[in-house]
Amino acid sequence: MRPRLPQAARRTTVLRREAVGAALPVALASLLATAGPATAGPIGASGLGDPYFPLAGNGGYATRHYDLTIGYDPRTRHLDGTTVVTARATQRLTRFDLDLRGLKVTGVAVDRAKAAFRRQGQELIVTPRRALAKGQAFSVRVAYSGTPAPIVDSDGSPDGWVPTDDGAFVAGQPQGSMTWFPCDNHPLDKASYDFTVTVPKGLTAVANGVLRDQRTSGGRTTFRWRQSEPMASYLATASIGKFQVRRYTTADGLWVYDAVDPREAKAAAPVLNKLPSVLAWESKVFGPYPFRAAGSIVDRAPKVDYALETQTRPVYDSAPDLSTLVHESAHQWFGDSVALTTWKDIWLNEGFATYAEWLYDEQHGGKSAQATFDALYKSPKDDDVWDFPPGDPTDGESLFDDPVYDRGAMTLHELRKAVGDAVFFRILRTWTAQHRQGHGATAQFIDLSERLSGKNLKSLFHVWLYAAGKPKKA
Ligand code: ARG
Ligand code: ZN
Repeated sequence: MRPRLPQAARRTTVLRREAVGAALPVALASLLATAGPATAGPIGASGLGDPYFPLAGNGGYATRHYDLTIGYDPRTRHLDGTTVVTARATQRLTRFDLDLRGLKVTGVAVDRAKAAFRRQGQELIVTPRRALAKGQAFSVRVAYSGTPAPIVDSDGSPDGWVPTDDGAFVAGQPQGSMTWFPCDNHPLDKASYDFTVTVPKGLTAVANGVLRDQRTSGGRTTFRWRQSEPMASYLATASIGKFQVRRYTTADGLWVYDAVDPREAKAAAPVLNKLPSVLAWESKVFGPYPFRAAGSIVDRAPKVDYALETQTRPVYDSAPDLSTLVHESAHQWFGDSVALTTWKDIWLNEGFATYAEWLYDEQHGGKSAQATFDALYKSPKDDDVWDFPPGDPTDGESLFDDPVYDRGAMTLHELRKAVGDAVFFRILRTWTAQHRQGHGATAQFIDLSERLSGKNLKSLFHVWLYAAGKPKKA
């Protein structure tokens, strides 16, 4: 049986025209207002009701902008931070939460007035001096410091602020962003970001978007970055290290900033040089690139063992191969611009980015997508790839397992065979256009596929996304 989508996902049909720039769309505000468990009275809920991460995000407000100021010294691993979140109350609020793990909070102010706060697990509970009215815009300023420690995910990989020998590898999927700044930690709530990061002279701090300014004085360098298009908190980075930096503008006018650990530089160069052509190819296949900036952060972070599609500028734990670059680049459309409404729909990110790798091979003299599909389909019944259906990874522990990536991509290949190439690629481009800088849910993707193809595709999606065990050949 096809599981019912959680409330948050079902409600996203109201999301038609999504945010442009940092403006908070009214529809999203109403979505955030109704998502999550009901609360008693004017208290913001402690989570947005995501079935996999019930405490992720918070109820009662929608963020508009984050202004992060961070100082970090890799030698002591000490972080000093001030985060100012600008938000709008979606209900009357006498109290609301932010998500933050570890660190010491030294002060909280709401609209510049000192506010009471306490900590409870990952919730930073804020009581403003005066209640916030429904619809009221407000700012909350949190000063904090300490030694950030990453969350260890179920696959054993660290997630969040991960110290390296010369700085930090910073990525936050699915939960790690709250290890380095207080946030509304769910992709439903996107905002624009400013970053001001100060590090010892000689190191470079790289965040999302565009570098606005870089200044050295008194042995420290401050980097100011701006991510103007809306971004989910897990896609924020402020990675630090001894980096070789290269800046250029592509023929298409994209602002590119690459930061590479010198020990990885030789291996990374030939792959990073392909970024403009990969983005140009993906723009042809998926529709216009959604951001004004691009680039790569290539770190040496042996304990991490993954890359992340941090918005505009993926972060790699070591020099990536071309497939990985194609994958993280495809996420800029699938995952970053079109964000999840619920973590359960993770195949909308990983299945699509994996299928982008197959398509890239196919169109660049490599294996056909059919051949890649066939090779996977040969896997015996007890292979990991058939462990669970990708539309229902059951909990937050299996988000990055093989079925989500491989069987997710196989689902798209089956769709392509069922509707033909012309309709299939129109579906992809319509999807990225309609949900650009916004959100998408699986049910909406199925609807769109049926609408553009004129076919009933329910059983195809049921078999590939939701039915247990290895699907029979159609
Ligand atoms: N989204 C990343 C990718 O497929 C994988 C992130 C894995 N994260 C983790 N905490 N294990 O490119
Ligand atoms: Zn991925």
